[in-house]
Amino acid sequence: MFLQIYNYICKTMTEKSIYFAGGCFWGVEHFFKGVDGVREAVPGYANGNTENPSYKEVYTDTTGHAETVKVTYCPERVSLELLLKLFFTVTDPLTLNRQGHDEGTRYRSGVFFADPEDGPVIEEAFREAEAKLGVPIVTQLEPLRCFYPAEEYHKDYLDKNPEGYCHLPLKTFVYLRLWQDIKLFLGDDDDVIARMANTCALIQERMRFFWTGFYRVEGEQLVLGPFQGPAACQRIGFGKGVCGTAWKERRTIVVPDVEEFPGHIACSSLSRSEIVVPVFKGGNIIAVLDIDSDTPATFDNTDATWLELIAELI
Ligand code: SME
Repeated sequence: MFLQIYNYICKTMTEKSIYFAGGCFWGVEHFFKGVDGVREAVPGYANGNTENPSYKEVYTDTTGHAETVKVTYCPERVSLELLLKLFFTVTDPLTLNRQGHDEGTRYRSGVFFADPEDGPVIEEAFREAEAKLGVPIVTQLEPLRCFYPAEEYHKDYLDKNPEGYCHLPLKTFVYLRLWQDIKLFLGDDDDVIARMANTCALIQERMRFFWTGFYRVEGEQLVLGPFQGPAACQRIGFGKGVCGTAWKERRTIVVPDVEEFPGHIACSSLSRSEIVVPVFKGGNIIAVLDIDSDTPATFDNTDATWLELIAELI
């Protein structure tokens, strides 16, 4: 009995909550339930002008409420900074009162905080998002005024309805699990080659791309590092090919059709589309993560966002 009380006190004392509005709350709840360190994700209605609204009332788009998920987490296991980074992987901060095909103030994106100390942390995350996009974002940042849990049938909606509507791409959920598993697998081992090797293996195991590998910066060249897939060219010059261009321009490059990329280096004639993500260490690029697909237009913003998060683990 004592231990149960002790655990409860520890849990309630150290837990915190943040409120994420990211469009339809079914997918947002399902996503944050899968984040290590999150104990609970509760769908509901926030910061509107009516008390205890029903889904039907909110659906009229006249209550001012946003579909919102209350995320309760253990700060010792997952930081608010990381939760905000993940929030921006599942929301479009540039579409006012719309997420995906869902339009209306109830679908606006927003972060609502109950603890005033969280305000500056959220503001910094917003600044980073705007700096990366280069334009102002429309995601709301407000103190939480009110939150009303949604009706029971909305809780765990996609578990109860596996074929149910979700505005998030399926690969978002696959990448979340992959990113967390890579983080766990790599741990704090400081050998970069070992980290690259297991990162390639885990990406390949889950995503089954045609070719996944790292090219390491060695002087003025990229040199082949750990990879999974057919034999590949061993050296690439600065500014050459997709990899050398990503290195030179210090940015992720998504290539829907390799035939259309000037100077593409075809290590295999079967490669049809590609994504290359620079690996930064303290502001310098130490490598690039290069992934080829044998089908056209395989990669999009979701891949870029998650492969950049994975590259940060190296
Ligand atoms: N296609 C890359 C070269 C690496 S092979 O794809 C593994 C490029 O153009 O840089």
